[in-house]
Amino acid sequence: MSGTKVAVVGAAGRMGRAVCAAVEAADDLELVGRFDAGDDLGDLSGADVAVEFSVPDASPANVAHCVAQGVHVVVGTTGWTDEGLDTLRGQLAQAPGVGVLVAPNFAVGAVLLMDFARRAAPFFESVEVVELHHPDKVDAPSGTAARTAELVGAARDAAGCDPVPDATTHDPDGARGARVHGVPVHSVRLRGLVAHQEVLLGGPGEMLTLRHDSFDRASFMTGVLAAVREVGSRPGLTVGLERYLGLG
Ligand SMILES: NC(=O)c1ccc[n+]([C@@H]2O[C@H](COP(=O)([O-])OP(=O)(O)OC[C@H]3O[C@@H](n4cnc5c(N)ncnc54)[C@H](O)[C@@H]3O)[C@@H](O)[C@H]2O)c1
Repeated sequence: MSGTKVAVVGAAGRMGRAVCAAVEAADDLELVGRFDAGDDLGDLSGADVAVEFSVPDASPANVAHCVAQGVHVVVGTTGWTDEGLDTLRGQLAQAPGVGVLVAPNFAVGAVLLMDFARRAAPFFESVEVVELHHPDKVDAPSGTAARTAELVGAARDAAGCDPVPDATTHDPDGARGARVHGVPVHSVRLRGLVAHQEVLLGGPGEMLTLRHDSFDRASFMTGVLAAVREVGSRPGLTVGLERYLGLG
């Protein structure tokens, strides 16, 4: 079998294993390497594209290594900071033709939810984000929730909206959640869950609830494989799968 050669970094993890299986099942893709913690990435086993699902502390160095090797990268690891993305842009400037996609969520439904939330946000006084995940997740809030809140906050700023109303003056334990771009974000960690998100939008006498559920890691694979097929034709840094779907 031949086709686009793919290496998976973080291959022993939950997402990495699912990506390896999805790549192996795709007729036009060939899995050439599996790498995990402690492995020397070397030349990525001659891969055209690397898929990176590891841990926030390791991801920037892994991606930098791939870029230096001239290998396109599809990055699913969450926790990337603005500074990390700026550094990556600098690395890509030294590697013309190399494409990197950093996407906090590869589930098409979750990407659509973010777009719907961004569009709806200026029409409501209040908006809050609730993300719910399995308890083995190490970062909070989720990358998807942080990005959703960023998009919602930016849309409200652009529309000249007031800050979300909140009379709370006493919250010693942080019960009102984190604030991302002025939007309260709440993280639930519960055994049995995979990845879920709600955006609650409230106005006088009404509420709109947008909800997405990933019941299985299969939900991410359509987006991951689409990104693997396209990343090579999009040089430089792209943040968010929505750009590949024509929504950005
Ligand atoms: N973008 C998305 O759609 C999406 C979906 C689910 C999870 N995620 C994110 O993907 C990441 C991985 O999630 P997971 O559930 O598979 O976690 P996991 O803990 O099951 O797997 C992480 C893997 O990375 C490995 N690792 C650690 N350090 C490494 C290094 N230096 N180099 C290579 N591999 C290393 C670990 O050994 C482990 O096998 C997390 O950041 C998670 O938030 C993103």
